[in-house]
Amino acid sequence: MADKPRLWISRRLSDATLERAKRDYDTVVNLDDTPGSAADLIAASAEFDAIIPCHSEHFSKEVAAQLSPRLKIIANHSVGVDHCDLPSLKTRGIAVTNTPDVLSDATAELAMLLMLGAARHAVAGDRIVRTGAWDFWSPSFMVGKQVTGARLGIVGMGRVGRASAARARGSDMEIHYYNRSALPEHEAKGATYHASVESLLEVADFLSLHCPATPETMDLMNADRFAMLPRGAVIVNSARGALVDEDALLSALASGQLAAAGLDCFKVEPGGNPAFADHENIFMLPHIGSATTRTRDAMGIRALDNLDAFFAGQRPKDLL
Ligand code: 8YV
Repeated sequence: MADKPRLWISRRLSDATLERAKRDYDTVVNLDDTPGSAADLIAASAEFDAIIPCHSEHFSKEVAAQLSPRLKIIANHSVGVDHCDLPSLKTRGIAVTNTPDVLSDATAELAMLLMLGAARHAVAGDRIVRTGAWDFWSPSFMVGKQVTGARLGIVGMGRVGRASAARARGSDMEIHYYNRSALPEHEAKGATYHASVESLLEVADFLSLHCPATPETMDLMNADRFAMLPRGAVIVNSARGALVDEDALLSALASGQLAAAGLDCFKVEPGGNPAFADHENIFMLPHIGSATTRTRDAMGIRALDNLDAFFAGQRPKDLL
């Protein structure tokens, strides 16, 4: 029997994933669970036929140029692939896959949490109860913004955008979206299409970002675009930090143009933006959109399915 392909798993994936990987591949796992550096990735490429990385491992143009020809496939444990320079990896003949679909529900759940938490003063409310500072109540105390019946603008009506729309419909929100093209009605489900981001912003009482980070979407939400939202809007970012100009976000909050923000993604990760810490109308989480037990298992299994297909000489389902 031919030797099993050698697989390097860069982070501590779910137990179910690691168990199956070890069964089917000659697997080494980075149990330290530290992000793989450029040097780690280059070194691994000389010893392994396949890598399952996370979005914490950056296959930049420079790294891609130094990878050993031994490495045949990068089977990402993520749907986003902005950490991979795809053209450079393609030039090197390295297959790249991702894990779409399986994390849409978990991420959409988190987008709703961010929206509600931002709209209803979750940060300040939690703080005053937790610290014993809750010594006052009034009908005008912590009055927030209601999502029911409000207009939700979704930028990027892909799988996660549609899963978020489904949840928002459950709150009777009126769904508007911007996408490269309008969706067929069975997917749009009554949502109103906007052919430009600008047109969408004009109606977005709540705005939720669900598009990938690309050179074109970098700082998509800048000062000019924040100014186009209805005054007192709430922005939610569960996609990528690169989509938001964080200084412009702070200015829009300071001026009252934005009432609140719910953020799971930041320009700098891990870490976030220290300037956000003083603002209790920013409800923040540390990039955990897909972090549920069920979804982590599904992401790992999907990455392994892609590897299995590749090594069986088939086209992986999620080949990019
Ligand atoms: C994960 C994500 O945090 O899939 C993505 O693009 O951002 C998240 O699901 C991460 O990439 C897991 O590896």
